[in-house]
Amino acid sequence: MGETDVLADLSARRQKVLQGGGPKAIEKQHSQGKMTARERLEKLLDPGTFTELDAFVEHRCHDFGMADRELPDEGVVTGYGNIDGRKVFVFAQDFTVMGGSLGEMHAKKICKVMDLAVKVGAPLIGINDSGGARIQEGVDALSGYGQIFYRNTIASGVIPQISVIMGPCAGGAVYSPALTDFVFMVQGANMFITGPQVIKAVTGEEVSAEDLGGAATHNRVSGVAHFMYDTEEQCLAAIRKLVSLLPSNNLSDPPAIDYNAPRIIDEALRSVVPSEPNRAYDMHDVIARIVDNADFLEVHAHYAMNIIVGFGRIEGKTIGIIANQPGVAAGCLDINASDKAARFIRFCDAFNVPVLNLVDVPGFLPGVNQETGGIIRHGAKMLYAYSEATVPKVTVIVRKAYGGAYLAMCSRDLGADTVFAWPNAEIAVMGPDGAANIIFRKEIQEASDPAAARREKIQEYRDKFANPYVAAARGFIDDVIDPAETRARIAEALDMLASKREARPAKKHGNIPV
Ligand code: HXC
Repeated sequence: MGETDVLADLSARRQKVLQGGGPKAIEKQHSQGKMTARERLEKLLDPGTFTELDAFVEHRCHDFGMADRELPDEGVVTGYGNIDGRKVFVFAQDFTVMGGSLGEMHAKKICKVMDLAVKVGAPLIGINDSGGARIQEGVDALSGYGQIFYRNTIASGVIPQISVIMGPCAGGAVYSPALTDFVFMVQGANMFITGPQVIKAVTGEEVSAEDLGGAATHNRVSGVAHFMYDTEEQCLAAIRKLVSLLPSNNLSDPPAIDYNAPRIIDEALRSVVPSEPNRAYDMHDVIARIVDNADFLEVHAHYAMNIIVGFGRIEGKTIGIIANQPGVAAGCLDINASDKAARFIRFCDAFNVPVLNLVDVPGFLPGVNQETGGIIRHGAKMLYAYSEATVPKVTVIVRKAYGGAYLAMCSRDLGADTVFAWPNAEIAVMGPDGAANIIFRKEIQEASDPAAARREKIQEYRDKFANPYVAAARGFIDDVIDPAETRARIAEALDMLASKREARPAKKHGNIPV
């Protein structure tokens, strides 16, 4: 071929790849409100920054009519590009090409970007939209998944890994997203191991795909997914925002934004939390007054809502916030809240994100379901995650901190570097009512007016322990602060802790109670 012919040939080949499954398949994709793989990457990345890899990879399956079947892009578009000028690696399954099904070479394309992302130290974002293992390829397809799962695990804690579910994600395919740090879902997408038909055949139960594994189910009930959005555009914009808060890898710090505003006293914080210990309020109102521009990216916003976790910035630097939510189940810790918080704390620790703990917790949730469901094992994850974390840990007790939950929310003993309490804080083994009933039971029973005696004993216990000064007298709390100064004091503590170094004994790895 002459020089012109060679270039024309290249251009024709490239064109074929860019067309994916062809106009009909693309139209079908659009008619379902879905973008194509390439359109999604275009929206996700800074304009014009996508570099494609492996456009000409071909399958090598000869069975079941595959010998002559051409699969442009092999059902997955892979490469790298920028988000806010920082490198990320990406793959997007192309449902228009054989349902985005995963065969040997499709998996090899994904593995190549995963390997590169780890070598370069940049986040990996995978967009899933696939009919699962390419049935014609049998064990080669299964092996492909195995290769991906293995890499997800090796990359865990080295680079942030984000999974996006924008179509079907079924069977063993779900385990790649499950191994990554954050799972985003859009309405209409679903994830399940065994679909509705199989469940009906095996158990007789009837359930819709949406109820079984839709975005709402995984965000509200199972906790498999962390974010859900109505549209693909909203979802891709949220991923960009998350990436902007995270470091590229475990050896770098999260990107900081220049911040020069003076530290302020925010008097509104004095009245956000009701002084009555049992009155509910929304902890989001406290968080909004502490983070820069009230801008808080909540993770797992719809799951275990008795605890709030998410990212924000203080004076331009990313922090992870873990906060009890007195507005839901009185902010008690339970099985799901413990799992949610522990996983988030471990992410922050792996990626050099300081943690801020806002405490208002009456205890672990009492109940047979909680005990038989293993709250001991699950609650232990929080203790473990906080204890093992070596990032800066700042704790602010805004009202109640009782019993084991006081410890589990990162008390001084679990390695908090700085602990503040508001003047109304109560730090005790349990609430004054319960405490008085137990330790003064006899006196109350034998009193001529048991109700009055009970009130008196409750007050006695409250005066002794239901304040922050006993804990402050022991040094468990560094300072009791005016709530109005909270943001400024946290910022100052984080400044002080910026160069924190903490060593741990050498070991292969710990054994968190999973
Ligand atoms: C080969 C597949 C495929 C697959 C879809 N296609 N899934 N080809 N292997 N797994 C092909 C279809 O044959 C069709 O090809 C094209 O993709 C588009 O699919 P449609 O069925 O037309 O699309 P739609 O009606 O939208 O239905 C989507 C779907 C359905 C619900 C995902 O395709 C489906 O049920 N697929 C099979 C799902 C499945 O059972 N997968 C295996 C899971 S087990 P043509 O040629 O017509 O365009 C698994 C194990 C992994 O994944 C284990 C890892 C450890």
